[in-house]
Amino acid sequence: MQTAERLSRIEPYLFMTLRQKIAKARANGVDVISLAIGDPVEPTPAKVVEDLCRAAGDPANHRYPTDEEKGMLAFRKAVAKWYKERYRVELEAATEVLGLIGSKEGVHHFCLGMVNPGDVVLMTDPGYPAYKASIVIAGGVPQAVPLAEENRFLIDFSEIPTETSRAAKAIFLNYPNNPTGAVATREFFAELAAWAGEFDVAVCHDNPYSEIVFDGQERLSFLEAPGAKEVGIELNSLSKPFNMTGWRIGMAMGNRDIIAAMSKVKSNTDSGIFNAVQFAGIKALEDCGDNIDGMLAVYDRRRRMLLRTLSACGLDAKAPRGTFYLWVGVPDGTKSAEFAEEIFDQAAVVVAAGSAYGPHGEGFIRFSLTVSDERLEEACRRLRDNFGS
Ligand SMILES: Cc1ncc(COP(=O)(O)O)c(C=O)c1O
Repeated sequence: MQTAERLSRIEPYLFMTLRQKIAKARANGVDVISLAIGDPVEPTPAKVVEDLCRAAGDPANHRYPTDEEKGMLAFRKAVAKWYKERYRVELEAATEVLGLIGSKEGVHHFCLGMVNPGDVVLMTDPGYPAYKASIVIAGGVPQAVPLAEENRFLIDFSEIPTETSRAAKAIFLNYPNNPTGAVATREFFAELAAWAGEFDVAVCHDNPYSEIVFDGQERLSFLEAPGAKEVGIELNSLSKPFNMTGWRIGMAMGNRDIIAAMSKVKSNTDSGIFNAVQFAGIKALEDCGDNIDGMLAVYDRRRRMLLRTLSACGLDAKAPRGTFYLWVGVPDGTKSAEFAEEIFDQAAVVVAAGSAYGPHGEGFIRFSLTVSDERLEEACRRLRDNFGS
């Protein structure tokens, strides 16, 4: 069977490859601990599950969720309220908010709605792998914007050549940043909006970790920046703040032309999110702030535990200001993938090789804090036994 040529230009999805590797080792009896994937092990808040069950029993919700094109208005209003309360951003629910099947879907539909074949689309390197895949599937040409540790893994707009900025149709970026754990500032977002306005670049700021911040770091949205809504959108998601990765519910907000374009793609592609999931999503947004506070305390405790272990192993690890990842330099003279393999072989602990996030991720590995405390303690014990001095 001859499959589409475009598939030869994208990698197999990173975590599918890792999952296969884990499954194979487990089938051979190895007690693998995966610190590779950012998928919270804690359950979704019970009241959200209860709301889902109640809404799932209502036959009105058994029909196509297409009464309103951009998702249920009540869900979009709840999103607008959440953005106002938590990020100081005013949104018109009817035109500036779109319900999504997770922010990953938004990445894809942004490309289908905005990118013409041959268009240059910028993305950070290191960066979330789905950006490149979605750009390529839409026929665009991905171009990497390097992130450097010296610049706290923020884009330095003065370093982007003017011809690159002129050629770019769009840009993908995300802060709090997966994979580096870096956070942005208001000034950075203002600079982003000004640069995008000057060069007519459509911004897709992907913000699923907006709530996962530490050490007094403020929760920020790109949409707060002056002029942001003229140049772009923000994606967000219920996956990470409410332990809802499996539910597939997220949202796009901001520029109404981009929202309308994505909505047109969506309504011709997937017909929207199950209404019962949207009702449960409203519950999460309106009534589960305490879950976020609880999870932040859990991640804070875990990152401290892992940081102590990594330091005992002589590794260069710093506390991230955002996300539940630790981006850790590998020992001199070692490659990311080799060191990740060594950790797997010696400790049966899986971490993500930084090089999987782009060439500038070489020299790093990424640890996720989304396993239980007990499993993390066990992983730390194995790391100390095998790599501790
Ligand atoms: C940067 C980034 N964007 C999007 C996603 C996808 O999130 P969702 O579950 O909302 O599709 C992830 C998941 O890990 C992510 O790290």
